[in-house]
Amino acid sequence: MQPTVTGTLALSVFTAVLGSLQFGYNIGVINAPQKIIEADYNATWVHRYGEPISSRTLTTLWSLSVAIFSVGGMMSSFTVGVVSEWLGRRKAMLINNMFAFIGGGLMGMAKLCRSFEMMILGRFVIGAYCGLASGLVPMYVGEIAPTSLRGALGTLHQLAIVTGILIAQILGLESLLGSEDLWPVLVGVTVLPTVLQMGLLPFCPESPRFLYIIRCQEHHAKSGLRRLTGRQEVGDMLAEMKEEKRRMDMERKVSIPELFRSTMYRQPIAIAILLQLSQQLSGINAIFYYSTSIFQKAGVQSPVYATIGAGVVNCAFTVVSLFLVERMGRRTLHMLGLSGMCGCAVVMTVALSLLDSVPWMSYISMLAIFGFVAFFEVGPGPIPWFFVAELFSQGPRPAAMAVAGFANWTANFIIGFGFQYVELCGPYVFLIFAALLLFFLVFTFFRVPETRGKTFDQISSGFGHASPDIMDMELDKPSTELDYLGAEGSLN
Ligand code: GLC
Repeated sequence: MQPTVTGTLALSVFTAVLGSLQFGYNIGVINAPQKIIEADYNATWVHRYGEPISSRTLTTLWSLSVAIFSVGGMMSSFTVGVVSEWLGRRKAMLINNMFAFIGGGLMGMAKLCRSFEMMILGRFVIGAYCGLASGLVPMYVGEIAPTSLRGALGTLHQLAIVTGILIAQILGLESLLGSEDLWPVLVGVTVLPTVLQMGLLPFCPESPRFLYIIRCQEHHAKSGLRRLTGRQEVGDMLAEMKEEKRRMDMERKVSIPELFRSTMYRQPIAIAILLQLSQQLSGINAIFYYSTSIFQKAGVQSPVYATIGAGVVNCAFTVVSLFLVERMGRRTLHMLGLSGMCGCAVVMTVALSLLDSVPWMSYISMLAIFGFVAFFEVGPGPIPWFFVAELFSQGPRPAAMAVAGFANWTANFIIGFGFQYVELCGPYVFLIFAALLLFFLVFTFFRVPETRGKTFDQISSGFGHASPDIMDMELDKPSTELDYLGAEGSLN
């Protein structure tokens, strides 16, 4: 029977992705008002020490304000597995909102209290919120979605992230909230979706999969399923969960150290980590954290509007990727994205180095940045997350997801913190990313298998053999299982 999107299902997905929206919002929010907030840091410094802040200290404080967000994310993303099993998905999302309140409050009050420490601490706490949300939301949405709608509903997570980035960029305009007086509102407004989510979560059912497979509460799982599907008869879905539970009970739980020790998991975990690194070390967040100053240096007349342009391109190409991923395959799209980004990085370097002699090069560099973002969303943006999930079966998956999430947030931190320093290389800064992108492209070509249309069994047994030739694996079994995971994956 064709599943219908019931009111409860729509409400539950909407409520959950409010977390993803905040994740995106906080990625994009400190970009446009950088100069204005920096001026306040300077004012605080003058107030305290009677002299203006040195540009070196200011750069350090600003880099810290940007990058500490990822430290919060790094730490909390590692706990997603434990927290979600302990509290359940819904309660974990509810309690996570506490971090959003504290983080938003600290950032919103920082100016009033003349404290850049509060701003930095607030960024750390909101980062911790986002780290948890980046795991909890896809998990909850993936678990409550009917199999055939999992892809569509799951993608709303990534779409909400990019929408959050765009909203932050627009609200960050000086004529809206990005002004000297209103920037505290801009950074504090992140608590609004939190309030909305807290109001709505009690009306959303807990994940029936969690209730049944982890908590063995058949009765509650059944009533949740009835609400989500609008059907009285849910025996078939329960039977499917029973099968999943049976398989899970058979598989040994795999710890994180074991992922690296066992020859069976070493190769897929290396691929998982490198794919996450390819997403972050591509330099994408150099754009989303610092594009306003990049555009300024590139001689673009309205850098803030150009930043918004990048946000629009980002949203548009996330939608494009949605339609391509099941047709073209993960490996091809990832390589297409990486090579496109690499080309754009080279064009940008050329354009920046010719800027002084050829003024119209500023347009070329702007187009190159748009291209860079577009190619990112085609492959390296959405693919690494779900690819990790596809590479592992039920037993090792939670540990692998934690390691992958940690790798992602760590690399996010390195870019957020380090970019301002490497930017001192002048026009050649993007050559570093071009070189890294080339390396990841070569790695993907030689090491990353195509997983589209393959079952988990086929994928993991491809790695288990002495000489894994996963790329030649037969596609004899169409996989409902993989449809499930593919859907789950496109969440991020
Ligand atoms: C992905 C990345 C995130 C990045 C965003 C840009 O979600 O994980 O770090 O900022 O894409 O769209």
